[in-house]
Amino acid sequence: MSHRDDNRVRIFDTTLRDGEQSPGASMTLEEKLRIAEMLETMGVDIIEAGFAIASNGDFDCVNKIAKQVKNSTVCSLARAALGDIDRAAEAIKPAASGRIHTFIATSPLHMKVKLQMEPDAVIDAIHQSVSRARGYVDDVEWSAEDATRTDMDFLYRAVDTAIKAGATTINLPDTVGYTTPEEYGKMFSDVIENVANADQAIFSTHCHNDLGLAVANSLAGVMGGARQIECTINGIGERAGNAAMEEVVMALRTRADVMPFATNIVTTDILRASKLVSTVTGFSVQNNKAIVGANAFAHESGIHQDGMLKNAETYEIMTPESVGVTKTTLVMGKLSGRAAFADKLQELGYEVGDNAFQDCFKRFKELADRKKTIYDEDIIALVDDEVATASYRLQVISLNTHTSSDGTSVADLTMTIDGEERKTLVYGSGPMDAAFNGIKQLVDFSPKLVLFQVHAITQGTDAQAECTVRLEEEGRMVNGQGAHEDTVTAAARAYVAAANKLLVKRGKSPLAATG
Ligand code: KIV
Ligand code: ZN
Repeated sequence: MSHRDDNRVRIFDTTLRDGEQSPGASMTLEEKLRIAEMLETMGVDIIEAGFAIASNGDFDCVNKIAKQVKNSTVCSLARAALGDIDRAAEAIKPAASGRIHTFIATSPLHMKVKLQMEPDAVIDAIHQSVSRARGYVDDVEWSAEDATRTDMDFLYRAVDTAIKAGATTINLPDTVGYTTPEEYGKMFSDVIENVANADQAIFSTHCHNDLGLAVANSLAGVMGGARQIECTINGIGERAGNAAMEEVVMALRTRADVMPFATNIVTTDILRASKLVSTVTGFSVQNNKAIVGANAFAHESGIHQDGMLKNAETYEIMTPESVGVTKTTLVMGKLSGRAAFADKLQELGYEVGDNAFQDCFKRFKELADRKKTIYDEDIIALVDDEVATASYRLQVISLNTHTSSDGTSVADLTMTIDGEERKTLVYGSGPMDAAFNGIKQLVDFSPKLVLFQVHAITQGTDAQAECTVRLEEEGRMVNGQGAHEDTVTAAARAYVAAANKLLVKRGKSPLAATG
């Protein structure tokens, strides 16, 4: 049976590689490990963990993910250069199942202008790179970068060479988001028909969203014979992004009548994965985004609401529960005890150690004292914040701000820096400015603030605020998040979270000369 007759579509997630190529989306090692854990839990077949040769940091991420993940294949990208492939092989060595993904451009434009290589030399490079990779692992993917603008006869030759050299997956990317569904589907069926050894490999889609067609093109690729889709959570990626995993998976599931293909994805984990990626990258999900947007299952008009009450199928093609949306529930109040809190964490899918549990419970009680109604979203924000910040070297202990109507504010800030308490009293134009000035003074740094975003986690004037801050220092970009019912405190926590990540990146002592 050729792979084309098999109806299983492998999900290859590249959130940690192509997704991270979105400007501003850089993630720390810890964040990548958390995302990799989520991807593994939700049943992703292949996790592209990074580009090992790109930097020591990238190598480390791929290597640590390879050590951590047991149930998904872990993959590193590599150009068609022997050094790249050796480094990728070294990075994925600890993986229970590892893949090397090597690529070279095949379109006339890329070969001439970018690579400055003759077509024959490209064929040679394909042979050499894939053979080298096969010397390390049995699972080798080869990609024809800019496949959709490649001359078809040359593409047949390139694919044939890659398969002969041992490639087990052939990826035909729409690198520039240029193709259309019909054209892309035909490209796969033509390649599969015209390359004699095509049945020895699984074909893969990789679509960029420059014309908003990435998901439609990926599905058309599957109809044309592809059995792997490369995608990212929330569709993040270079420029307009990649095909969104949640969309391709739910489209295949919901329209199995016309696309009879199955994936391994546990769809009820989709919303959690989306929230995790959006929190880590600071890329918020638009309200009307398919599957995971805040309004994806909201019904506003009277006619729709009436229909929904009579039968949800009138306006709902999939249930919110199938992608992990739980009804907004009033969870607990200040009388809820440890056992109820532990049950709630379990229901929300958290496994936290004893110390983290005690810290989360303490924060929950403090929040319950101040906030009348506590929803699942409040608990999720609180636990995510606590888990992410527990190991930070910089911590906000207390913050009091006073604002006057002339715009001047003063912040009274206490932080710990490597466990040592520091205090300051500083002015600013507005409470955020004063709080950020205080942090800059205590930490003795002055990064550029490139993004500041706030949203309310739930409804009501006592809702917790979730802030995202993006800082830049000497070309290094980091994101930080913080949640609190006081918006200024949430902003300060986000700023400090980002500052912690900068410290990790620059690797020098944060201690200011003054205390
Ligand atoms: O878009 C692209 O062509 C890529 C390749 C490296 C697979 O990301
Ligand atoms: Zn890409």
